[in-house]
Amino acid sequence: MTRWPDGIDGLCYGGDYNPEQWPEDVWSEDVRLMREAGVNLVTVGVFSWALLEPEEGRFELAWLDRLLDLLHRSGVRVDLATATAAPPPWFSRRHPESLPMTREGHRLWPGSRQTFCPSSQAYRTAAVRLASRLAAHCAGHPALAMWHVHNEYACHNGHCFCDASAVAFRRWLRRRYGDLETLNHAWGTAFWSQRYGDWEEIGPPRLAPTFVNPTQQLDWWRFSSDELLDCFRAEREVLRRHTPDTPVTTNLMAARLKTLDYWTWARELDLVASDHYLQAEDRAAHVDLALAADMSRSLAGGAPWLLMEHSTSAVNWQPRNLAKQPGQMRRNSLQHVARGADGVMFFQWRASRAGSEKFHSAMVPHAGTDTKVWREVTGLGAELARIAEVKGSRVEAELALLWDWEAWWAVELDCHPSADLSFVELVRDHHTALWRRGVTTDLVHPAADLSRYRAVLAPSLYLVGDEADANLRRHVERGGTLLVQFFSGIVDEHDHVRLGGYPGAFRDLLGVWVEELFPLRAGETVRLDDGSRGSLWSELLHPDGAEVVASYQDGPVAGGPAVTRRGRAWYVSTRLAPTDLERLLGRVCDEAGVRPVCGAAPPPGIEVVRRRGPDGPGGRRRPSWLFALNHGDRAATLPASGVELLGGGEVDGRLVLPAGGVAVVREGG
Ligand code: GLA
Ligand code: GLA
Repeated sequence: MTRWPDGIDGLCYGGDYNPEQWPEDVWSEDVRLMREAGVNLVTVGVFSWALLEPEEGRFELAWLDRLLDLLHRSGVRVDLATATAAPPPWFSRRHPESLPMTREGHRLWPGSRQTFCPSSQAYRTAAVRLASRLAAHCAGHPALAMWHVHNEYACHNGHCFCDASAVAFRRWLRRRYGDLETLNHAWGTAFWSQRYGDWEEIGPPRLAPTFVNPTQQLDWWRFSSDELLDCFRAEREVLRRHTPDTPVTTNLMAARLKTLDYWTWARELDLVASDHYLQAEDRAAHVDLALAADMSRSLAGGAPWLLMEHSTSAVNWQPRNLAKQPGQMRRNSLQHVARGADGVMFFQWRASRAGSEKFHSAMVPHAGTDTKVWREVTGLGAELARIAEVKGSRVEAELALLWDWEAWWAVELDCHPSADLSFVELVRDHHTALWRRGVTTDLVHPAADLSRYRAVLAPSLYLVGDEADANLRRHVERGGTLLVQFFSGIVDEHDHVRLGGYPGAFRDLLGVWVEELFPLRAGETVRLDDGSRGSLWSELLHPDGAEVVASYQDGPVAGGPAVTRRGRAWYVSTRLAPTDLERLLGRVCDEAGVRPVCGAAPPPGIEVVRRRGPDGPGGRRRPSWLFALNHGDRAATLPASGVELLGGGEVDGRLVLPAGGVAVVREGG
């Protein structure tokens, strides 16, 4: 159940506020400007540990009190961070064993952030003590609206290979397997003389002469995600003790971070918050944004989520940090709202003068308020107020793209048929094709409830547990459509091959079996007899109940089937070129009755998403809002009717969207 920060009317608007970088007379200007911009929520204290606890056990909270009081007087609510993402220098000096260690055995030095081992007892104790102290001190403060635990868990220290981590890993393995016999079987240690006779012989998958046992690696990913989740839970518990009514969250990096199994994480949060930064040089960065937003919404189970950070303009950490074009920040922000965000926040409020992020854009730029960025910041605040009525409404999708962190970790382990296979790239292929078609997509775990989806797509779902296998079968039996891409259903949860021909788990369902895999050379493409092109992969594939939709015309398996279907269960054995995939998915969607939001595919560069409110009393029609965004440089028209909320005005059947423009239409009466 999502719990939203209370005391906020309408959508949340604000950002990370790190005023400890500035003399206090700047603070009063800050809150004046926040009011001007319509800011109603700021995240305070994310990196303040060294100031809050300047030496072990000595807390200095008076400045925080002054800050919270000031924000409260100004009507700005506070998302208070526990400040545990950056242990201060005194901590690292006193506990050098808490510094993280690389796979090669190098200790990392302090002087940055997230310099701690997730299994370090000293770190955990100190983090919980700080969170507890803050919670006890700030409980009941009227500005406190939400807790922000830590910051972007695993952004920099997802895996630590030190001895303390080794001990914790063994503890985790004992819980998972119970006895060594079971572990030896699961890890397949009969091969390469890896059999373990004593738990103490087991370590993290440190750098070894050659490939480390793959199941050991897979368990290491699982362990590392759980280990940081334990850190989160420990902080959350003390916060809940002191402030049971205040929601607790942390900021995820949806569709970006590989290290944490966010399906497990999302269940532990009172509300899903996520950060998103554009890959600035990518001309289709808005499509990637859509994927991240869809993922955030899916993690929230369809409930509203909070965009905790994005940027007003350039970031500082990419090779070339392109500034945003006029109007782009507005479009990015409203695109997140279109896809279910009920708040838009930035890193950070005021651009730093010093430190690593001084060239990262902010809401108040170095040049001050007579700037494009500030005008857009105040403009966006006003527009979010104008569309506040969308709060609490939901985006509904009829199509699910399967996404599983365990399958992602497993498919990208070493020693596979091709090192070119990237799970996220393949998901992105499908998501992009659907985006262009104007079909809204959820990301879904393969074992989750699929009953609301007409169609389910499984891009290279290499690892499939028995539960997921049964779930997908049920989906097809119930009349659902399923499309499976190559190298799916290959192994079980221990990374053991499902024998008898690939794609093991899905053989009967799809009515095919694969005799041998024929990955392609880098850059090589093959032709199909329906005019499509494939790359990356091909397979020697035999129909066994399925009909052949397209065959290979050339390449290593020329003449053999490439795309098949058994009723509603489709199989694609290569990576289709973007337009070919679009064509195929168009056909699959049409047959499955999955419709584009506007009835037909929108013009190129146009994005359309619908949010729906709850049922009205007495069977009143559900209100709905159509979000339309023009990412292109030419005006476009779309079918729509209702009241446009941003510019104001009736729309009567035909919405004209200028280049770069956004419209939010309250549909119907
Ligand atoms: C070498 C090794 C074998 C095996 C093969 C794989 O020849 O001796 O054990 O690993 O490589 O190609
Ligand atoms: C992340 C962090 C922020 C900041 C931004 C910069 O999202 O959470 O503290 O470093 O990146 O883009």
